[in-house]
Amino acid sequence: MRIDIISVLPELMESPFKASILKRAVEKGLAEVHFHQLRDWSVGKHRQVDDEPYGGGAGMVMMIEPIDKCITDLKSQRDYDEVIYLTPDGETLSQKIANTLSIKQNLIFLCGHYKGIDQRVRDLHITREISIGDYVLTGGELAACVLADAVIRLLPGVLNDEQSALTDSFQDNLLSPPIYTRPSEYKGLKVPEILIEDWLHEEAVRITQEKRPDILD
Ligand code: ADE
Repeated sequence: MRIDIISVLPELMESPFKASILKRAVEKGLAEVHFHQLRDWSVGKHRQVDDEPYGGGAGMVMMIEPIDKCITDLKSQRDYDEVIYLTPDGETLSQKIANTLSIKQNLIFLCGHYKGIDQRVRDLHITREISIGDYVLTGGELAACVLADAVIRLLPGVLNDEQSALTDSFQDNLLSPPIYTRPSEYKGLKVPEILIEDWLHEEAVRITQEKRPDILD
C-alpha cells in the first residue's frame, strides 16, 4: 500500500512512522508513506496556500489551486483508490472503515488547516471525508497519523501472530477480555485462578508436544 499525505506541516507526522510496528512495515516495504509539503505547489513567492473566505467571517480558507495542482500531479503518476480529506465533519473513523481501506493500493490523505478547504476541492477530488472523533484538532495531521496507523497495522505481514489483528477489540464486535501477566499476585491483587489453571494446562500440552507427542490426543 502507498499513502501520500498532503499537508502544510508534514514534519508533524514523521515520528509515528519511525518507531515500532509502523517503522517495520515501512522497512519491509509493506507500506510506503510519502509526505508532500503543500506550499511546494503554491503560486507566488510567498508560498501562500490560504486566503480570506468570500462572504467574510473569521479564519482563513485553504485555496483550491495548490491542492488541485498537488493532487493532479499525484494522480498523473498513478491511480488512487481514495482521496481522503481529514475533517471533523467527515464520517467517524471505525474499525470497519479501517478494514475497508486496508485492502486498497493507493490512498491520498489531505490534511485540512485553518477554517477548512475551498468547497471546490471537495467537489473535484475528495472521495471520502473522515473524522477521528467529535472534537476539533488544530489540523488534520494527527488525524492522518491515526488513520494511517489503523490501516497499516491491518496489512498482511505487518503484525505477527501474537499481535494478530484478528483478536483486536471491535474486530468481531466484542471488546477485549481482561488480560494479565506475571506476577500472579501484586500488592494483594491476584490473577484469577482460572487463568492460571488454563496456563498450567497449556504449558503441560506444550511440554508433552515437545517431549512425547506420541501420547497426545
Ligand atoms: N481536523 C481537525 N479536527 C479533526 C478531527 N476530529 N478529525 C479529522 N480531522 C480533523
